[in-house]
Amino acid sequence: MGERMRNQLSRRRVTTFTLVVAFLGAGCAKKDQQATGDSVVASSTSATATDTSANKSLYDRLGGKAAITAVIDTFVARVAADARINKKFAKTNIPRVKTELVDQVCAETGGPCAYTGRSMKEAHRNMKVTDGEFNALVEDLTSALNTFKVPDREQKELLTALGAMKGDIVEVHTSATGTALPASFKPAPPLKDTTK
Ligand code: HEM
Repeated sequence: MGERMRNQLSRRRVTTFTLVVAFLGAGCAKKDQQATGDSVVASSTSATATDTSANKSLYDRLGGKAAITAVIDTFVARVAADARINKKFAKTNIPRVKTELVDQVCAETGGPCAYTGRSMKEAHRNMKVTDGEFNALVEDLTSALNTFKVPDREQKELLTALGAMKGDIVEVHTSATGTALPASFKPAPPLKDTTK
């Protein structure tokens, strides 16, 4: 096999890994460059000089939509198993929440998505979420990000963006967790299947 073909194959393997498994951000970008000798040459000649990890959107550094979807799946599984917060999801259509969360994270991090779900105030109105429950959810998200070895810098940027929504989500200022979902809470309807 020629050197060029070996490089191409190796690049394809690394790219697939980046998209599907990884969410590795900066660390993976470095591996990409080591694996593809020609792209290192190209970047030193200026054509891709702006395509460094420092200039990439958070969306790209997280690994794009497939990687974001993998993290959200793991995150929602953690939440479902977390007695500190899972009562709040008793009436919720989970496929809808997953879709909306992926779109929201994609849009917030500079990706090519539009978030079309409810505003954070509307989605969490009368849910009586506490500060303690908000922190528990952030812990579950951090744990999912760690599972996919997302570097500290990307974790901080994402949590800062989402943390800014806290004022619209928390309605009860206590450290209590595991509080009930009010009986009067009205969940959002399932999303229409746009593939049909
Ligand atoms: C930064 C933190 C949070 C973000 C970014 C966030 C984001 C979202 C999004 C995008 C939705 C979907 C809205 C829609 O369907 O239109 C949603 C729904 C929901 N969130 Fe959050 N959320 C956060 C914190 C929390 C916390 C702390 C809890 C409870 C402990 C919670 C419980 C829920 C529930 C139960 C739903 C479904 C509501 C329904 O069934 O209509 N969220 N959230």
